Amino acid sequence: MSTKPKNIILGISAGIAAYRMYDLVNELKKQGHNVTVVLTKDAKNFVSELPLKVLSGNPVYSEMFCPKEQNKPIHIDLADNADLVLVAPATADIIAKMATGICDELITNILLATTAPVYLAPAMNTNMWDHFTTQKNIETLVTKIGYKIIAPEEGDLACGYSGVGHIAPNERIIKTILLGENEVRPLLGKKVIITAGGTREAIDPVRYIGNKSSGKMGIAIADAAYNLGADVVLISTVYAEKKYQVIEVETAQELQEVIEAEFDKADALIMAAAVSDYKPMKTSKQKIKKKNEDLTLELIKNPDILEILGRTKREKQIIVGFSAESEEMEKNAKEKLVKKKIDMIVANDITVPDLGFGSDENAVIILTKDGQRECLQRQPKIQIAKHICQKLAELFLSIKEAKEV
Ligand code: CTP
Repeated sequence: MSTKPKNIILGISAGIAAYRMYDLVNELKKQGHNVTVVLTKDAKNFVSELPLKVLSGNPVYSEMFCPKEQNKPIHIDLADNADLVLVAPATADIIAKMATGICDELITNILLATTAPVYLAPAMNTNMWDHFTTQKNIETLVTKIGYKIIAPEEGDLACGYSGVGHIAPNERIIKTILLGENEVRPLLGKKVIITAGGTREAIDPVRYIGNKSSGKMGIAIADAAYNLGADVVLISTVYAEKKYQVIEVETAQELQEVIEAEFDKADALIMAAAVSDYKPMKTSKQKIKKKNEDLTLELIKNPDILEILGRTKREKQIIVGFSAESEEMEKNAKEKLVKKKIDMIVANDITVPDLGFGSDENAVIILTKDGQRECLQRQPKIQIAKHICQKLAELFLSIKEAKEV
C-alpha cells in the first residue's frame, strides 16, 4: 500500500494482542512510515521495549517525565509531530480513560494533546466489549470526539471465551489508518432521506420560479451520511451520480410526493433543499409571448413539507430542517424549529458574500429542540455535513438512551 510516509504514534496498552504489534511496527516501517511506540506501564508485561526499539528504529517511550533533554514536554512533542495516533490493542481500561479524559499515562496525555486523527483497535474479553460502559465509551469517542474504531473480530479469545473481542488483523489496521477508512459507522442500519437543491416551479416550458440553491450542501450531507453507514436516499433537483440511491425531482410537489413515499420507512429526514414557497397558479403549455403590456403572475402557496411531516412523524423518526435567513437568523430559526416540530435546525445567513448558496463553504448555527446550540464558523461544506451527520447520530443515541431509562 503506497501512501505518503507518516509519523505514526503507536500506543500499546496491556492486552495479550500487544504481541502482534511487533509485526505491525515492522510492516509499517517496511512501508516507509516512522513509528514511535508508546507503552502503557502495564503493557510492558506483554511486550518488551528492546524489540520494539529495534523494529521501529526509534526510542520507545512510556514515562511522562523523560530524562532526555528536550525543548517541549515529551507528550506535547510527540502529539505535535504525529500525523496519526493508533492505540492497539486498546483495552477497556484505556478506552474508559480516553472517554473521560483521564491522563495517568504518557499515551493518554498524548491523546488529549494531539490534533491528529486517532484510531483505536480494541481487543478484550467478549463480555467486557459488550458491556454497557464500554459500548457507551466507544459511542462517546466516536460521536463526540471523532475517533475511529477498527472494530474487533469474532473468534476464540485468549481468555478462553469465544466471541467478539479479537483485535482486527494487522492488515486491516494498516489499511484503515493509512487510507483513513472510518470503520465506525454510527448511522449503520438507519435509512436517511436527504433533500438537496432548489425546486423549480414552471411558468411555461422555458421559464420557472427558482432559487440560488446549488445542492452542494445537501449532496455533501448525503455523502457524509453514506460514509457513516446510512442507507441514503438523496432526493435532489440537481443530477448526482452516487453509490447510493438518487431520485431527481424538479418541483416542490414532486419533492413532496417522493418524500412522502419514502418517509414511512425512513429513520430520519434532512431537509436541505430550498423549497419554493409559491408556484404559478397556472403553468402555460406554450411559451408565453411578449406583449405590449406588463404581465402579472398569480402565485399560489406550496405546502410546507417539513411542517406536515413534523406534525405526523413517528416519535422515533428524526427530522432536521434548514433555515435560510437574511435577518434575525437565530430568532427565526428557533421559531421554525418550534413551529415545524422538528428535532434540529441548521441556520445560515444568506447575506454573507461568498458563503452559502453556490459556495463550497458555509457557516451555520445548529439548534436542537432540547436547547443545544452550536456555532460552526466558516468552513468547507463537507466538514459541516460531517458534523450534521455526527449530530444526527447523537440524536439517535439519545432516543435509544431515553427508551432504555
Ligand atoms: N421547507 C419545506 N417546504 C416549504 C418551504 C420550506 O419543507 N414549502 C423547508 C426547507 O427545506 C427548510 C425549512 O423548511 O428545511 C425552512 O425553509 P426556509 O426557506 O428557510 O423557510 P420557510 O419555512 O420557507 O420560511 P421563510 O421563507 O418565510 O423564511
